[in-house]
Amino acid sequence: MNMSKLSGLLNKIYAAALPEPEDLEQVLSLSGQDELGELFAFADKIRQKFCGNGIVLRGIIEFSNFCARECFYCGLNKNNRKLERYRMNKDELLEAIGYLAACNIKTVVLQSGEEAGLDVLWLRDAILKIKSSFDIAVTLSVGERSADDYRVWRQAGADRYLLKIETSDESLYSSMHPRMDFRNRLNCLRILKESGYQIGSGNIIGLPGQTLKTIARDIIFFKRNDFDMIGIGPFIPHQDTALAGQNRGDAGLTLKAVALTRIVTRNAHIPATTALGSLDKDYRIDGLKCGANVLMPNFTPQPYRKLYEIYPQKRCVNEPVGACNFCMEDMATSLGRFIDYSKADSLKERKANSNV
Ligand code: SAM
Ligand code: FES
Repeated sequence: MNMSKLSGLLNKIYAAALPEPEDLEQVLSLSGQDELGELFAFADKIRQKFCGNGIVLRGIIEFSNFCARECFYCGLNKNNRKLERYRMNKDELLEAIGYLAACNIKTVVLQSGEEAGLDVLWLRDAILKIKSSFDIAVTLSVGERSADDYRVWRQAGADRYLLKIETSDESLYSSMHPRMDFRNRLNCLRILKESGYQIGSGNIIGLPGQTLKTIARDIIFFKRNDFDMIGIGPFIPHQDTALAGQNRGDAGLTLKAVALTRIVTRNAHIPATTALGSLDKDYRIDGLKCGANVLMPNFTPQPYRKLYEIYPQKRCVNEPVGACNFCMEDMATSLGRFIDYSKADSLKERKANSNV
């Protein structure tokens, strides 16, 4: 595609209330260096206009790897009997958050597998304690739960919730998630929004059976739902799952999806995901150059960190707690940007500083 045609197409996508899937597909199929350069520079400009030059840090603590689900791609799935399971106790969790807060980080993401054993009141008490001890925004990422559970945690002070749709294609979703219901996932996202959470969602790039059209529709799904945060990561096959031996997701395609998502959603927070950093090289820096504005340092303490093996060769599994911070400072400096140590609430007007 010649450069003026591409520039016209990108401007059309940017200006559209809802972009045409065919236009997104056309951009997702680009492969020339000049074309990709144009796309990434366009997305980077939009990132700068709507998010500025700060790189937001979201510290993640993976507090349990128990999971009751059977997602075909995920190393935590309940059928993986080789994985040693753990659940951090409240003291360990608070100690890890204390460390994160001492590093001046103002957002913690509490993530676990989807475990039936996660007691709603245990997590409520943990949230109450965290919010009374630290000036920190709390994001939960513990999967599908009841409306009551979501409300209890929100009332205890949880600010944000991360629930990736993984794919917006119902039949692809069903083929990856035995005994799960796509409609219920949508329903959870709706309830979370109604409960006043800032919402993060996202997808996986390179799931077997996914096409460029599917990814184009995912991006339209992100726009329609006006998510506050959107995580896009490549599929990395895990040897002890049903998808062992499949091809991994393509880094270039993931970067194109990040860039287009930035152009289409404008001011959503978009991380350069850990999965993007866990391929043949660390592509997070490329992600930050084509639309991403968030990094997620890992604050899960050992020995647990290496047991949260969603996929193999996950980044930062052996680094000491806190090392990621220095590394991320370096990344920001090398890009002429800076680390934003604020809570970095949603940039969507209606959500800024919303509290219960
Ligand atoms: N249980 C929570 C939920 O259901 O939202 C969060 C935990 S889950 C392990 C976190 C994310 O890991 C998922 O949303 C999925 O996108 C990602 N993930 C799992 N397996 C993966 C793989 N093999 N490659 C890339 N991403 C993967
Ligand atoms: Fe963890 Fe670089 S981000 S060591």
